[in-house]
Amino acid sequence: MQGQYSCAWASDPTAPHAVRDTQDGHGRQHTGLPQEGRLALKALIETDFSNLTLFARGKVRDVYVAGDNLLMVATDRISAFDHVLGTGIPGKGKILTQLSLFWFDQLSYIVPNHLLSASPLDYPEEAWPYRETLRDRSMLVRRAEMYPVECVARGYLAGSGWKDYKATGSICGIDIRPGLWESERLPEPIFTPATKSQQGAHDENISFDHMVELVGGEVAEKLRELTLALYSQAAGHAERCGILLADTKFEFGAIDGTILLADEVLTPDSSRFWDATRHHPGRAQASYDKQFVRDYLENIGWNKQAPAPHLSELVVKQTQEKYLEAFRLLTGRTCALQG
Ligand SMILES: Nc1ncnc2c1ncn2[C@@H]1O[C@H](COP(=O)(O)OP(=O)(O)O)[C@@H](O)[C@H]1O
Ligand SMILES: [Mg+2]
Repeated sequence: MQGQYSCAWASDPTAPHAVRDTQDGHGRQHTGLPQEGRLALKALIETDFSNLTLFARGKVRDVYVAGDNLLMVATDRISAFDHVLGTGIPGKGKILTQLSLFWFDQLSYIVPNHLLSASPLDYPEEAWPYRETLRDRSMLVRRAEMYPVECVARGYLAGSGWKDYKATGSICGIDIRPGLWESERLPEPIFTPATKSQQGAHDENISFDHMVELVGGEVAEKLRELTLALYSQAAGHAERCGILLADTKFEFGAIDGTILLADEVLTPDSSRFWDATRHHPGRAQASYDKQFVRDYLENIGWNKQAPAPHLSELVVKQTQEKYLEAFRLLTGRTCALQG
């Protein structure tokens, strides 16, 4: 859909929809970036659309039933060290939704996807009362039978891939040349499936044979082929934009036997983005988006147990800027986050 990922968001802070108090009637919000004499942008922490049935509430997204379809709403929640933090990043859900839309558009020649529309007026009537909240941060998608596997592609050695390689010399049963450093580029991108974790638990890497047991050989091979094709196209694009796509996770589903790319795609929440100019193998790389958050949480000595702490205003602002920067670099567009 032409232009659906353009960030046509109001940049006028005096626009009526920007004047909100801490509760818009449809969701819990809190002030994110108070600035002297200016209206602060609010973070949308949780939605509460009483006309609609909640399908699932994830760490970041609230998903509602919309007839035979689903309405996926990206809030401004942010997680770190497996916990949703006490403070949101204003506009994050909008940036990530627009980024997903950009990628769906770019990658649809490889595989069809679940997107029906990102325009609230195309949504079922029950959702219309919430259209101000839904604008720019939601998608109406086809409800698919999801495959119970996270389809991960890795181009670099990081995270659980690095851990497994260090311990066994292989990742998900794939032998990798010895002597590689942490964060080093792999000789070629690899497909490393994982089981979907229950809430709060870590995903677990599985072998391709294990995946075959879960979804069958034909589907497993198709999902591997699609995952690597999507990764290769996206990583090439990102690299030309100055961002290394270290790894990313896709989720696929099927409708009437047709495989669809579902969920979110190639956002900082589902991927490791690295700044190409700061890539130094031999150690862990700074996370593109969450580095300020992680440093802050380490500095205040949080024990990584609930309740998760709040973030400082500075960290919120720096983090928001990183999301905006990733969006700008990858799409060539800028976003005005207001409303
Ligand atoms: N088209 C679809 N049909 C059915 N389920 C989907 C579709 N796209 C995504 N999902 C599921 O919706 C949920 C989205 O929730 P999310 O906020 O990502 O939660 P999580 O914390 O589990 O990542 C996931 O369980 C995902 O598998
Ligand atoms: Mg998810």
